[in-house]
Amino acid sequence: MILTLEWTNEGVRFIDQTKLPLEETYVLATSYQQVAEIIVTMVVRGAPAIGVSAAMGVALGAKETKAATTEEFAPEFVQICALLAGTRPTAVNLFWAIDRMKVLFARLQAEGADLATVKKAFVDESLAMYDEDIAACKAMGAYGAELMPDEGGVLTHCNAGALATCGYGTALGVIRGAVERGKKVHVFADETRPFLQGARLTAWELMADGIDTTVLCDNMAASLMRAGRIQAVVVGADRIAANGDVANKIGTYGVAVLAREHGIPFYVAAPWSTIDRATLTGDGIPIEERAAVEVTHHGGKQLTPHGVGICNPAFDVTPAKYVTAIITEKGVLRAPYEQSLEAMSPTA
Ligand code: MRU
Repeated sequence: MILTLEWTNEGVRFIDQTKLPLEETYVLATSYQQVAEIIVTMVVRGAPAIGVSAAMGVALGAKETKAATTEEFAPEFVQICALLAGTRPTAVNLFWAIDRMKVLFARLQAEGADLATVKKAFVDESLAMYDEDIAACKAMGAYGAELMPDEGGVLTHCNAGALATCGYGTALGVIRGAVERGKKVHVFADETRPFLQGARLTAWELMADGIDTTVLCDNMAASLMRAGRIQAVVVGADRIAANGDVANKIGTYGVAVLAREHGIPFYVAAPWSTIDRATLTGDGIPIEERAAVEVTHHGGKQLTPHGVGICNPAFDVTPAKYVTAIITEKGVLRAPYEQSLEAMSPTA
């Protein structure tokens, strides 16, 4: 089992995703500031993993505080949450997790809880999120497996696997679910420029599980689809708007349009913590723009001429009309998504 992140007595331990697949090394964060830095630099990445990391960052901030009472800790709690919330803007799981810690803290304050109780409650809450995330991935795997072909090629983009969650994965959870149920799927992993989550991370974790995987450059998907080698596409999501528009790794939109053109189903697997019904359409989703160096350089080597203009949005939005179904831990949603989301919503 891949340990993407883990709460330990010494701090939060992360597998360093910037070093994979060639080096399997771990980083220990002993302060909430370090957790924030680890999220920004993508040592940990993937929407659900970012959310749980932030919750553990809050727990670490409380554990390390010099405050003596809950009241004294309250302004520091606000600062901790603000720093962690400022790390990456697109994955709504980050804000979902921090909001959950805020709700908990407000309740504990109202109950007059002492600081030791707060510290313990924060650790327990982040561990509960961790367990819930794995359970959600397994449930998505079970629902999504039904939608996978009995035999054939399945394309995925980016890494929505164990490394992007607390374990098992969303899109890769669906693939794992299919393989566990005896389906003979062959995975095509888009390399996913510029950070290469597909080539480095998806390939690494699927090979570790013995799942047949082929890496392809992002610009090869169209010809493989045309050649009839891809029977389904499954990807993860960073945020799903109320109308079913899906923000995910840059390049996902292109894959969805290609899938439609070739009559291939395009599935999105995501937990409810990725669904943001307060954002009505994809136009309202903030898209992170990352540093130009991710595009200009690779492995420390410059690829582009000095001074050339660079565009590096980390995500794009796939309009709901291209999404065949959204696989969640509660079941499979179909268009029209406003209605299916409303019907399946925990608050409905
Ligand atoms: O920039 P990243 O690597 O954090 O982007 C990750 C993705 O886009 C994933 O597909 C998404 O977060 C879903 S992870 C289960």
